[in-house]
Amino acid sequence: MEYQTLNTGHKLPMVGLGLWKIEKNITAQTIVSAVESGYRHLDSACDYGNEEEAGKGLHEVLNQGILRKDLWITSKLWNTYHRAEHVRPALLRTLRDLQLDYLDLYHMHFPIALKYVDFDLRYPPEWLYDPKADQPRMELDSVPLLETWQAMEALVEEGLVRDIGICNFGTALLRDILASAKIRPSVLQIELHPYLCQKNLLRFCMEEDIAVTGFSPLGAQSYFQLNMAEAGDSVIEQPSIHDIAKAHNRTPAQVVLRWGIQRGVSIVPKSSNPKRLRENIALFDFKLSDTEMKTINALDCHRRFNDPADFGPAAFNTFLPIYD
Ligand SMILES: NC(=O)c1ccc[n+]([C@@H]2O[C@H](COP(=O)([O-])OP(=O)(O)OC[C@H]3O[C@@H](n4cnc5c(N)ncnc54)[C@H](OP(=O)(O)O)[C@@H]3O)[C@@H](O)[C@H]2O)c1
Repeated sequence: MEYQTLNTGHKLPMVGLGLWKIEKNITAQTIVSAVESGYRHLDSACDYGNEEEAGKGLHEVLNQGILRKDLWITSKLWNTYHRAEHVRPALLRTLRDLQLDYLDLYHMHFPIALKYVDFDLRYPPEWLYDPKADQPRMELDSVPLLETWQAMEALVEEGLVRDIGICNFGTALLRDILASAKIRPSVLQIELHPYLCQKNLLRFCMEEDIAVTGFSPLGAQSYFQLNMAEAGDSVIEQPSIHDIAKAHNRTPAQVVLRWGIQRGVSIVPKSSNPKRLRENIALFDFKLSDTEMKTINALDCHRRFNDPADFGPAAFNTFLPIYD
């Protein structure tokens, strides 16, 4: 495993296991298999709805002798908890579910504040304010990002989280946070794959000493089951990716993931298949040439699969652009 050194000096494993869409009934076992395969970094979130099951898996691996200090556990603050008074209770719920007393990294999941939903009413609250309403929608709240960020800074000061970061921010929002932050974000997590290279955002982060983690590093793969991508959108079926894979005797997925880490970003591919779990971490014994990197860079077509402007109206009856 290789590591990214953050602006706090902490070391983030370059490959982690993403937990989004892992079914509850296999989450604990998937975590145990992942740790056995060498994973030490898990990417969780309140919104994934499987933190309690992830906690059982973590409990098991810690009981088997893995040291807490050798694991990197990330989770994310959900959109309904952006008000200062809700940030700490949200983190405490995540810690309770994960059976941990601190997180390595706590992200703000989206630069979107949704109206608060009480923990006892629904957890995780997801996107809709009232799923039982005649016409369920999202309900926005007016919370400055700085208010949320300052409440997250307090979690670091209290020792409940070691690093704080943000997801789904662009350069303008990052600049705004940097202008006021007492604790700078150490990681930005964004969608990154050969169809969405985000060159300028990566360059900005490098200049500002903010590490980047790429989510959905396999591109369309995650979005087929959600009907947010079509067969022709698959990055790993690109002929050039297949050619490079053949040349290295690797799978197309490994080539795409290797391209990710070779750009200097960490990645959090999700798999609940034991064979693919092992495949997705076996990335450190081969290297793509400059020409191969350029060939893959040239696939960039600014195709974003995870965009609230697209999924908001279709899935939640709410138009919610954040990138435009
Ligand atoms: N911050 C955010 O807003 C945000 C948004 C999205 C995702 N994320 C994080 O990023 C993680 C990864 O993103 P993702 O889950 O969207 O996408 P992904 O990891 O790029 O793709 C996952 C999909 O690819 C399949 N897959 C995995 N390895 C494969 C391989 N070697 N060959 C072929 N198919 C393979 C998986 O199926 P199997 O399980 O059957 O292998 C699954 O359907 C998430 O789990 C989550 O932790 C964060």
